[in-house]
Amino acid sequence: MKNLKKMILCMLVAALVGSMLLTGCGKKGGNTDSTGENASQANVEENSSQNEENKSGMSEEELLRRQQLEVIPDDAVYKDASKSVEERVADLMSYMTLKEKAAQMVMAERNTASGGAGPADLQSYPLGSILSGGGSAPASGNTSQDWAKMIDQYQQVATEKTRLGIPILYGIDAVHGNSNLFGVTIFPHNVGLGATGDYELVEKIGAATAKDVRAIGANWIFAPTLGNPQYVTWGRSYECFSEDAKEVAPYGAAYVRGMQGVLGSDEFLSQSKALATAKHYIGEGYTMNGMNQGNVNMSDEEFDELLKSGVIEPFKQAVENGAKTVMISYNSVNGLKCHGNKHLITDILRGELGFDGIVIGDYNAIQQITVPGGKFEDQLLTAIDAGLDVTMEPFMWREITDDIVDFVENGKLSQERLDDSVRRILTAKFELGLFENPYSNADYIKETGSDESRELARQAVRESLVLLKNDKVAADKNVFDVLKNAENIFVAGKGANDIGTQCGGWTISWQGQTGKCTIGTTILDGIKEVTGKDAVYSRDGKDMPENTEIAIVAVSEIPYAESNGDRTYKSLQFMNSEWKVVEAIKEQNPDVPVLVILITGRTLVMDKYIDNADAIVCAWLPGTECEGIADVLFGDYDFTGKLNYTWFKTGDDFKDRKEDGVLFEKGFGLKKAD
Ligand code: GLC
Repeated sequence: MKNLKKMILCMLVAALVGSMLLTGCGKKGGNTDSTGENASQANVEENSSQNEENKSGMSEEELLRRQQLEVIPDDAVYKDASKSVEERVADLMSYMTLKEKAAQMVMAERNTASGGAGPADLQSYPLGSILSGGGSAPASGNTSQDWAKMIDQYQQVATEKTRLGIPILYGIDAVHGNSNLFGVTIFPHNVGLGATGDYELVEKIGAATAKDVRAIGANWIFAPTLGNPQYVTWGRSYECFSEDAKEVAPYGAAYVRGMQGVLGSDEFLSQSKALATAKHYIGEGYTMNGMNQGNVNMSDEEFDELLKSGVIEPFKQAVENGAKTVMISYNSVNGLKCHGNKHLITDILRGELGFDGIVIGDYNAIQQITVPGGKFEDQLLTAIDAGLDVTMEPFMWREITDDIVDFVENGKLSQERLDDSVRRILTAKFELGLFENPYSNADYIKETGSDESRELARQAVRESLVLLKNDKVAADKNVFDVLKNAENIFVAGKGANDIGTQCGGWTISWQGQTGKCTIGTTILDGIKEVTGKDAVYSRDGKDMPENTEIAIVAVSEIPYAESNGDRTYKSLQFMNSEWKVVEAIKEQNPDVPVLVILITGRTLVMDKYIDNADAIVCAWLPGTECEGIADVLFGDYDFTGKLNYTWFKTGDDFKDRKEDGVLFEKGFGLKKAD
């Protein structure tokens, strides 16, 4: 009898406590959320909406208790590295309030001067990730140490000064090495790597890049770009491996394996690895006239067919190789922005490709979605409903966090859909080991810009060179016979002596720049180093010494990125001043053989000029290690590169892409003896 009484009494007490919790009274210091409403009330609604969706298996009371805790016990399952990722994610989510969940979906720019989020902001808005847009370096300076100090500050607040201690993801455009930073090795842009046919090399470059990124405490690389440009009028052609998607695919997969590690291996997402980003999904190479962020002028059915014909392949292989994130593309298809295209993101990317990683938006791209009334919150809801997990609206991080809370509280967004995104984001963080190792790595910093990585870049430069023209300069000689024994070498052209030019866009700054912007070896320095000869340099080709045996002229594009690189078909050519250098040399001495080196992000119109050159080598955008060019010109290395783009004759030929307008076929590339 006594036990029965005791049991009844316990049940009465439990019921009383439960009802107190649910009504919100009796808890310490009720916190109010952003709507001003008492959080426990909001939580009650949330929990009631969670009722049918509550996947934690815990009672509503227990969930509420956890969300109300000021301090999380050290023995919480999610803090236990011996538990599985799934267990840790589920446990962590059971502690998260609605606002903490919403904040995980939000990425902000680090630059607080322009409205970004600083480390201290994470205490009120525990955001899931921070990014550096192109060139957004720490105010203190641009060395690895400066970056490491800055990013560690974010991680310290995130892991030690927020209720749950969830580390942030830090994203950066390390698109050809960790190229925002001064003094690091910068590899050839993808347009050059796509001429090598060497997937193992590309995988090594991905690994070297990831190590340089984890060195500074960043852990998410917005690369590789997997577009396949049809119109090189597009300013982002150089970010792409090939015009043919089927050729892009293995390069992208190799980059992903290098950056993240081989799926299923011990190194996968280990300390020297970073999240890769298969971007930009999808169709960016097919916009009308190659206009950046433009429209693909096809019906939905035609576009689906185009994807099936191969354009989806790079993303398919990236996903098969474990790519953890996909960035949505600015372009629209048939008038609908990809960021609002549920069919592409949810039906195809998630449904058909089975991608269950993080889908991130591009920079301010959500604001381009057309919605009735044009209100941002409707654009945001459209993007999340289409399948977006992380927003890259770098300066709207407060508004977005509050909007997502509001969407769930008002039933516009289901708790389940929010939980799907949060689960993917937390899974990546646990898999990366960030809860155990959130900070930068001083040992890796010591290896940044190492001889080993520079040798790798030099090899990439050698293998990316494509020999397009190789005329005889005498009955029994071509330029390479002359180069072999030349004593008096003349080097000309701006691009022959300019680190910034040879690196191209996305270098130190977003757009890149000319000049000595970082540490590296110019074409001229490389020639001097490899030959041991004191080559004579003249930027404009004038004052060529009488005894010159061979003239080497760089003809180059100036650096650019994204829309700044867009051209019309008529302006798809080198600046005239560049080829004038060749003419200046011919005028001084028509008998001196001229080797032209093209420093370019794309196959530009040059049909009027090529007769002036005895030989033409395309070096694309080689990065910091241009000794690789001298290695092939003067050394024992032969040319192995093959064109990964069709080279047309005139601007109109680039537009029409007709067979009779072809100057050099895709796949073309000569050897020294040809
Ligand atoms: C840019 C680019 C994207 C880049 C992102 C962050 O606009 O479209 O490739 O990763 O913004 O810098």
